[in-house]
Amino acid sequence: MSKRIKAKRTNVPSEMELAHKALSRRVAVEGIVLLENNGILPIKPGKIALYGEGAKQTVKGGHGSGEVTVRHEVTVKEGLENAGFTVTTEEWIANYEKRWQEGKKAFIRKYRKKLLRPSTQTLAELVAAEYKYPSGRLISKEDVKSSDTDVCIYVIARLSGEGQDRAVEEGNYLLSKAELENIRRCAKAYTHFIVVLNAGTSLDVSFIDTIPGIDALVFMGQLGMEGGNALADALTGKDTPSGKLATTWVKNYKDIPFGDEFGKYAKNALRADYKEGIYVGYRYYDTFGIEPKYEFGYGKSYTEFAWDVSDIRISGKTIEICANVSNIGTVYSGKEVLQVYVSCPDGKLEKEAKRLVTFAKTKFIAPAESTELKLAFQVEYLSCYDEGCAETILEAGGYIIYMGTSSRCVKEIAVLQIRDNIVLERHKNLCHAESAIATLKKEETVREISGNLPLLELDGKLFKTIIHDYKEKRHMFHEKTEKFLSQFTEKDMASFCSGLGLIGDGKGFQVPGTVGFTTADYLKQGIPNLSMCDGPAGLRIQMRSTITKKGKIKPVDAPISIYEFLPKVLTKCLLGNPEKEEMLYQYVTGFPVAAVVAQTFNTELAYQMGEAVSSEMTEYGVTYWLAPALNIVRNPLCGRNYEYYSEDPVVSGMFAAAVVRGVESVPGNYATIKHFALNNQEENRYYVSSNVDERVVREIYLKGFEITVKEAHPRALMTSYNKINGTYAANSRELCTDILRGEWGFDGVVMTDWLSTGEDRASDIEALKAGVDVIMPGSKKVMKKLAQNAENGVLDKKYLRRACGNMLDSIFNSAIKM
Ligand code: BGC
Repeated sequence: MSKRIKAKRTNVPSEMELAHKALSRRVAVEGIVLLENNGILPIKPGKIALYGEGAKQTVKGGHGSGEVTVRHEVTVKEGLENAGFTVTTEEWIANYEKRWQEGKKAFIRKYRKKLLRPSTQTLAELVAAEYKYPSGRLISKEDVKSSDTDVCIYVIARLSGEGQDRAVEEGNYLLSKAELENIRRCAKAYTHFIVVLNAGTSLDVSFIDTIPGIDALVFMGQLGMEGGNALADALTGKDTPSGKLATTWVKNYKDIPFGDEFGKYAKNALRADYKEGIYVGYRYYDTFGIEPKYEFGYGKSYTEFAWDVSDIRISGKTIEICANVSNIGTVYSGKEVLQVYVSCPDGKLEKEAKRLVTFAKTKFIAPAESTELKLAFQVEYLSCYDEGCAETILEAGGYIIYMGTSSRCVKEIAVLQIRDNIVLERHKNLCHAESAIATLKKEETVREISGNLPLLELDGKLFKTIIHDYKEKRHMFHEKTEKFLSQFTEKDMASFCSGLGLIGDGKGFQVPGTVGFTTADYLKQGIPNLSMCDGPAGLRIQMRSTITKKGKIKPVDAPISIYEFLPKVLTKCLLGNPEKEEMLYQYVTGFPVAAVVAQTFNTELAYQMGEAVSSEMTEYGVTYWLAPALNIVRNPLCGRNYEYYSEDPVVSGMFAAAVVRGVESVPGNYATIKHFALNNQEENRYYVSSNVDERVVREIYLKGFEITVKEAHPRALMTSYNKINGTYAANSRELCTDILRGEWGFDGVVMTDWLSTGEDRASDIEALKAGVDVIMPGSKKVMKKLAQNAENGVLDKKYLRRACGNMLDSIFNSAIKM
């Protein structure tokens, strides 16, 4: 490691930066979902009346550790202007800007005052501090007149993020009175009226049925740095929208199962009882016959498609489907997504009406042209978990295979017959709820299986039951690792099992803006220090920093927006002065949030995004990217939903696997899948216990992680803050060792989430015993504690050895060399 830093001394955009910006726009435009369109879209550039919070204060992503700072963010206004529109409502937008800035200043003042006398409570609040966007002033007749056009776009924006869930309140999940009134006025005053939603996940969209005169509704999501340009591409038809919803949008929040007990609405803040069981998202709405507003998998196009199956067969344990997809429109090219669902038979265990097993997206199909699409899935995706005997089984019966373009727009295409029960895996009960959760049960249903469908027969003889023995296997480390382990004292080993916090110790290799390091105390022995940086919408590192002659580095821009809330005296010390010191630059790409990436239903794009992030990691010397995050979207109110992919485990797993493969296509750069597991709410996240039946844990909440681990072999994983059935995730040996390593074969590094261990949180010592390798962000104090406990026998040395061995292997295999 000749240089201590790879940050650049110049701020000239590199070719890579430009190429990644183009990729970000591509992902963004494919993730936009056209919810309604009566034919107004696409529109030609011309004069446009633009209103709404998101017009110029466009939200590119959520707040918290998922924030990515970029050179430039394209707002909706700018994007439309770039595309040739003339925005004729400058006055309204300027007035909104003023309200927004004033509101923000007042909000910051409030926090600064609190922080003059900080308490644990105010600091905790600070992480969750979220400036709620004010509504704009009411649109007047004068605004309409002076806009001098009959086309109008209204952009509703919502910001949410880490540390706080959303609420069923006006201006939040619900629209504010002023927003509703403005939408009503625009719908009446303009001949052509389009509403755009700039939010992390779903909102209450009941206004679409109560306010007449809305011609189109577009779910823009949070599109990253190229948001405005991508939206303009979709609105003008430069690119036909092809995004599909990866979550269900309900008609009314009341339709969400046990939504009145979610997060802050829970009677007992320490418990989150997952009473809906396996019935999450469309699994619930489809099984219980509740009609959503927009179903999972739904999204319109400017053209229309027809499809049929040309072949379906079973080849060993895989079902292979060949389909022809035709663009039956006459004007626009477009892409279509085919989705395969299966209705599994109710045997000993009751099943959801249908579950997604795979999907695929076509390339652009020109009008009147067709393309062939190949889809495949493993029959293991049809299994269920029998908690009574701890077995993963394929139950005997007829499995109806459906294909379609959303969870509700499907046709039966074949039946798979399984003659006898097949036991795929024999486990032991793990992450088991002490007392069963009173979960939702469906009424007995009778499924009729049509005799006219192609019948596929599964050969049960192909399967040999995997019996997990959970025995600890003696792991052989890297030759170099073994050598160090044989010489290391407890203190040496502990040094690698505790990170070095947010700012490192100034020694060794530096990546300004990193959120954690491994120790730099062993550089002389030839062991480099590695850095860890957040995601998932790109690399969260410091865009601009200063460096003193002595090598001290300080950020120039706030590394995270909560910096704005700190008292000025403090930020003055924390931030560098660009006029006095030399500058360092690390420009990165702000990609769309994970929720949008999933809406592309294009895993190839997700792979490319992973590859792009990885090149930026190499550029600046980042080793662990703390992403992708693949918790299940259990309820639309979770503040971090924007960082997650879907309510469906297969979508989550397929996207996370694609991103991991992209990142790890560069040997020695690591993806860190998180938050393992069941971190489905932000409310009380350090203390709440997600209480769930084991079947549900495995079939819904761990499934995406299992797919990712088995298919993409990520080199790192981060545990979550919460407890699972009473045990902290970071202290659960059942989760971090028995399931993760024992059943799935994970052999990378397990790290804790930041500050999830400590006095009233998970225990550091128990974490090491559970299978965690490094406590993050850690400290010298944590390191000492681990060493002392190993010396006095409280922590068996074998755990420390294993953890240190995993860390050293990870370090020696990384792209960072001495
Ligand atoms: C978040 C993680 C993040 C970590 C480091 C935590 O607060 O939950 O997702 O990677 O901070 O910034």
